[in-house]
Amino acid sequence: MEEALDLLVTGIGRLVTAKGTSPKGGKGMGMLKSIPKAAIAARAGRVVAAGPEEEVLAAVGDRPVGRWLDAAGRLVTPGLIDAHTHLVHAGSREHELTLKLHGMSYLEILAAGGGIQRTVSDTRRASQADLYEKARRTLDVMMTMGTTTVEAKSGYGLEWETERKQLRVARELNRRHPMDVVSTFLGAHAVPGEYRDRPDDYVAQVAEEMVPAVAREKLAEFCDVFCEQGVFSAERSRVILEAGRRWGLRPKVHADELAATGGAELAAEVGAVSADHLLHATEEGLRALAQGDVVAVLLPGTAFFLGETPAPARKMIDEFALPVALATDYNPGSSPTESLQLIMAMAAAMMRMTPEEILTAVTLNAACAVGKGEETGTLEPGKWADFVLWEAENPEYLVYRFGMNHAHAVVKKGHLVAV
Ligand code: NIG
Ligand code: FE
Repeated sequence: MEEALDLLVTGIGRLVTAKGTSPKGGKGMGMLKSIPKAAIAARAGRVVAAGPEEEVLAAVGDRPVGRWLDAAGRLVTPGLIDAHTHLVHAGSREHELTLKLHGMSYLEILAAGGGIQRTVSDTRRASQADLYEKARRTLDVMMTMGTTTVEAKSGYGLEWETERKQLRVARELNRRHPMDVVSTFLGAHAVPGEYRDRPDDYVAQVAEEMVPAVAREKLAEFCDVFCEQGVFSAERSRVILEAGRRWGLRPKVHADELAATGGAELAAEVGAVSADHLLHATEEGLRALAQGDVVAVLLPGTAFFLGETPAPARKMIDEFALPVALATDYNPGSSPTESLQLIMAMAAAMMRMTPEEILTAVTLNAACAVGKGEETGTLEPGKWADFVLWEAENPEYLVYRFGMNHAHAVVKKGHLVAV
């Protein structure tokens, strides 16, 4: 007899998923499979069959089923993937709101020793157990809202002990929490106060000491840099990303968030998996990204919260055929939200992305932006059985009705993890 299924979900009103394992660019972003009256079968954490109910039931035959769920006509999509977060940190920075309302900019607050530097002192002081507990609660909230994979950056240590502490928390959470947590080393998130007058020494320390240590201890898959005016220039960023690459850490870039800094061009040059933010990227930068197959990770929550004009998503998709992903940028300063659903609504209202593009951007393209396109991001046999049953009938409703949680139930690797 064939092996038992762990989970069978029938009665799905509509199953909507992108196809494939590589990111979709330009018009391809809107091409989704939309299957009425569908079902999904899962075993050992992976999809066995997903498609029209009759076909799935025929494929399943009389195999015993561990858990049988009736979706009662609900919409089902792949689990959401949050491709850019600063998950592990201590404290919160709501006091900065008053400074901002009095006209101080994000970079002015940072230059005055606040902003990222404030979270750095909080995080340096925090114990690993406290950081773990705070991040664990955050993952619970994200999962309740339909997120099944997150990327998590370090970058609130800016010295080895604390960077390692953050990365260890992320690794521990990946082992113990149902969420898949993909780690990124962001030692170059800001120049620490101790190195204010000699930034090149800090760059050397990150590139020559921290990067090899991250690689040796297998603490991250990616290496990121905040390439920004007044933070790390493209030249300094290149030194770090090249070192990362030599040590097997794939590059990612915080690129052109607040000013055109050559971040997009650099991302293409070093073969980055993604270039993130891109509010001020130049045309040459966007062209280079398209040629280099770099995923553009857009973070409208940050634009909203900093009062900036969001990235030109329509231009990126229509003129440059860029594969676009969307993420929360969850962090205590520029985007304090766990809700990818809110980001999806912003993408429609503020960036004119279509519901189909948005769904592709938070599933398949986001999976590719964290190097997991082979494992997740679509519902196909062999991929992880990560999906959401929505209190909705179609994807339009998800991005239209904003400010609430539409997730009815969340399945991670074939297990019901949030209802
Ligand atoms: O992506 N830009 C740099 N890093 C974060 C903000 C981090 C913070 O303010 O604590 C971002 O916006
Ligand atoms: Fe960020």
